[in-house]
Formats: sequence, C-alpha cells, structure tokens
Amino acid sequence: MSAQRTSLVVLTGAGISADSGLATFRGGGGLWEGHRVEDVATPQAWRRDPALVWRFYQLRRRALGTVEPNAAHRGLTELAAECAARDVAFTLVTQNVDDLHERAGSAVLHMHGELAQLRCERCDALVRDLERLELDVYVPCASCSHARLRPDIVWFGEMPYFLDAIDEALRACTHFVSIGTSGVVYPAAGFLSVARDVGARTIVNSLDPPENLDPRDDFRAGRASEVVPGLVAELLQDL
Ligand code: OAD
Repeated sequence: MSAQRTSLVVLTGAGISADSGLATFRGGGGLWEGHRVEDVATPQAWRRDPALVWRFYQLRRRALGTVEPNAAHRGLTELAAECAARDVAFTLVTQNVDDLHERAGSAVLHMHGELAQLRCERCDALVRDLERLELDVYVPCASCSHARLRPDIVWFGEMPYFLDAIDEALRACTHFVSIGTSGVVYPAAGFLSVARDVGARTIVNSLDPPENLDPRDDFRAGRASEVVPGLVAELLQDL
C-alpha cells in the first residue's frame, strides 16, 4: 500500500480579515443599519428591495479599497508556496467575499462568491468590477442589456460554489486548519468534522471557540494575524 500524500486544507472566515479592519458577521450585534445580515443577503431581499441590497454590497465593495491583507493572509501565501515546493497538496477555501487572499498572492476557492465580481441573472455573464461604486446606481449587463447586475455572492438559500472540489480535497486531507470562523453556517461549518472523520490533524484558530469545535481539535485562541504566522512555521516543520 502506498503512503498517503500529505495534503492540507485551510478554511478561512471573517475573523482572518478582522485584523485588516473588515467587520465580522456575528460580532458587534451583527446588524447593518438596523437590518439583520440574513435579511439583506437573500434572493428574496434582492427581489423585494434591490436598492437596499445594492447599497449594502456597494458599501462593502467600496470598503475593499480601504483595507490591506494582514500577516495571516500573507502567512497562508507562504504556506502554499512551500507546499508547492515540497509536492504537498494545498487547498485554500474561504467563506469571505473580500479579495484579501488574492491580494496577498494566494489562489483561493471563494465558496460564498466575491465582492469584486458581478453576475447577470438573465444571461449569467460575469464581470469583474471594483470601479462602479456609486451607492444608488446599478451596473447594467453589457452582454444582454439587463438593467442591473447582482453581486456574485452566494446568498442564504443558494448553493455555495466549488463544493465538489472542496469535498475531494477534504476527503484526502491529512491536515485541516480552520481560521476565524464561528462554525455556524453550513456547509462550511461541517468541513471540520469531515476532516476529523478521515483522520486528519485538525487545528482551529479563532478568538472564541467556534460552535463546531471538538475536544479532538487543537484550538489556538487569538488574533489570526498573531497566531497564523507561528502556525505556518510549525506546520512547515511537520510537513
Ligand atoms: P462570523 O462573523 O460568524 O465569525 C467570525 C469568527 O472569527 C468568530 O468565531 C470570532 O471569534 C473570530 N474572530 C474575530 N476576530 C478575529 C481575529 N482577529 N482573529 C481570529 N479570529 C477572529 O464569520 P464567519 O464564520 O466567516 O455567509 O461567517 C460565516 C458566513 O456567515 C459568512 O461567510 C457569511 C455569513 O452569513 C454569506 O454571506 C453567505
């Protein structure tokens, strides 16, 4: 029987970008101008009140121009490069819709979509755009002339992206690292238990213990920008 190839999967959530200045979802009351995030991030809300939903995402798209990747994003880029050099499989998955992983130089699977991308509901055209940022002006589709593109964000009730590729990586992983997620939104919240079930070493960083934490996980409390660089160095010793 051949030895199992060393294989890492890293899942990130809002906590990794908190040290760059982006608010998490469940901190600070989780409200935006009196609305629960769950009431804005749905297809029903887009149909009912597109102006409100557009404004919510335009504010988030604008905020990307005011923040920079932090030491945790950069540490994961270094980890990926070292894995490539050592023929270790590496998959970075994020629930975040910001672009801080890619601006730090990482290739990443955005399972909940991306603020930097807009999508046409009529013809499925995808457009990368972080320039048209007026709060109350929609972006029309250049391909089919539909009046307004929607944010390419996976809303509540919609199917996350890349689930097959993520499942394949999880089932082969020997190490799973979760960073800055509260472990309450599925399917991402279930990845930790899949990794445990396949016998992977599971490491969890967050400020507070997440909902899906288990005594078998190696929990590292603290800010991602402080914990992740040391964790990367430690993992590189182990690979
Ligand atoms: P949450 O806001 O639910 O959780 C953030 C987690 O990060 C918490 O566990 C905090 O303790 C932790 N945290 C905060 N600051 C941190 C720091 N500086 N360093 C490390 N950890 C820190 O965010 P997510 O779990 O990412 O979905 O939320 C999951 C999904 O819920 C989001 O992707 C979004 C939301 O609804 C969609 O929009 C589809």
